[in-house]
Amino acid sequence: MRLTIIALAVTLATPALAQQPVDATRANTAIQSAFPTAPAEWASRLTGDETMQQCSAARNSAAKDIAAAIQKREQATILYPTDNNFIGDWRRGEALAQSGYGLRFTDYPPRQVNGGNCYACHQLTKAEVSYGTLGPSLSEYGKLRDYKPEAVKAAYEKIYDSHAALPCSTMPRFGANQVLTIEQIKDAVALLMSPDSPVNTGK
Ligand code: HEC
Repeated sequence: MRLTIIALAVTLATPALAQQPVDATRANTAIQSAFPTAPAEWASRLTGDETMQQCSAARNSAAKDIAAAIQKREQATILYPTDNNFIGDWRRGEALAQSGYGLRFTDYPPRQVNGGNCYACHQLTKAEVSYGTLGPSLSEYGKLRDYKPEAVKAAYEKIYDSHAALPCSTMPRFGANQVLTIEQIKDAVALLMSPDSPVNTGK
């Protein structure tokens, strides 16, 4: 009997819950108050910039004109290496791809450089068997693109600002949000695009 009542209650409550509109102000207040000791520089990130707000409002599938505006705005944030050389050191790139250091509560005050945490979402080298699958595999990334200069530049731009290539991407904007420096982004590009990088040699 009791089970029946619970089952009935769940059946009755579920559609009602699903239909309840989300009160954005209440939700935002709850989120803000959940971070009472957040570093000051987090304040703007809890609210989100214009791009985040537009992507959230559209649940990451922004209408064409909004997506185009996001892409244009994000492309404008990209700073390029002054010598137009996009390839750094793949060994340093591999180290930053492995490192998830930075921007966490425990990382303040910062004691080392930030990482890119690429393995959290991507397969890269064959040797690393622990990786996430939210993003596509980047194994043999350069080889598959014949190490073409346009592909090297595109990889740099993707890492610098993921929304510049795909509006409302769920990949972080590493350069635009100053998570990684230009030099670090070049190192990540080297990991993807150097012929002797383990990403391409398969070792
Ligand atoms: C939170 C998850 C996440 C992290 C962390 C992340 N990425 Fe991504 N990445 C994605 C997703 C999802 C995509 C596919 C959608 C897109 O293109 O934005 C992607 C796409 C890419 C692409 C384009 C792939 C293609 O099809 O051409 C490259 C290159 C890339 N990521 C490199 C990196 C590098 C390098 C790092 C570390 C500095 C990194 N990503 C960190 C989620 C992530």
